[in-house]
Amino acid sequence: MKESRQRIIVALDVDAHEAGQIIKEVGPYVGLIKVGKEMMTEGTANDVMFRAVQQGMGTFYDGKYFDIPETVYRASLKAARLVGVRMFNVHCLGGLEMMQAARRAVDEVASQAMTAAPRPLILGVTLLTSMDVATCVGTGLLPVWAETDDVEIKTKFMRDAVRKLALLAKKAGLDGVIASPLEIAEIRKACGPDFLIVTPGVRPAGTETNDQKRIMTPGEAIRAGADYLVIGRPITKPATGTRAEAAKRIHDEVAAALS
Ligand code: C5P
Repeated sequence: MKESRQRIIVALDVDAHEAGQIIKEVGPYVGLIKVGKEMMTEGTANDVMFRAVQQGMGTFYDGKYFDIPETVYRASLKAARLVGVRMFNVHCLGGLEMMQAARRAVDEVASQAMTAAPRPLILGVTLLTSMDVATCVGTGLLPVWAETDDVEIKTKFMRDAVRKLALLAKKAGLDGVIASPLEIAEIRKACGPDFLIVTPGVRPAGTETNDQKRIMTPGEAIRAGADYLVIGRPITKPATGTRAEAAKRIHDEVAAALS
């Protein structure tokens, strides 16, 4: 999986009409789109996914399932059968049994498939990057004394939690996890070279960081060990030039980092 186009996922946090435009413009440089809860709830996700297929692109279906195992199993059966879906995700916090249910669903769909299309990848969401120690203490995930003034201790708590959840995802048979750029090294060390890491929080040098805090450039993230990059606004809303130009620059940076 060397081809740089296949490593880039454009996050379509836009309405369906704009999504259709973006797909046409960036298709030559970007292999996958990411559709999320907004389009799913609006009922436009499937139409947008179909347009992506027409441009030779696949979909990361960002449904982030988190429910009882039977419900996740049934939802995963549907996700695995969607046109163009190449990957979808579940929350690792749902536990081993829930993640195994997603694995079972995808394997069943693949065993019944009439074509040799590759089975969709299942990714685990470890801790959301919007969660910090205070969030985890507030939900009871970490003990109250984890909330110290010592930044190093707090960072260690979060890293340990992310590593444990990634290892749980691996044990459940998931293909990989979503991780912030700063978590790549820790997960790679714990989970080995074949476990996929999909990384948002990517910003080309000199572009707006927006609300992303823990960022790397596309080249840095690939060299750090990311398999796929999720990139939204730097492609969909470039500060200068066209979307196609922005996507091409990222594509070329990824290609250089892979060579
Ligand atoms: O526009 P930007 O490149 O920041 O978009 C990143 C995408 O990745 C968004 O769809 C965001 O919701 C998603 N994401 C993220 N951080 C995570 C998980 C998902 O930025 N930890």
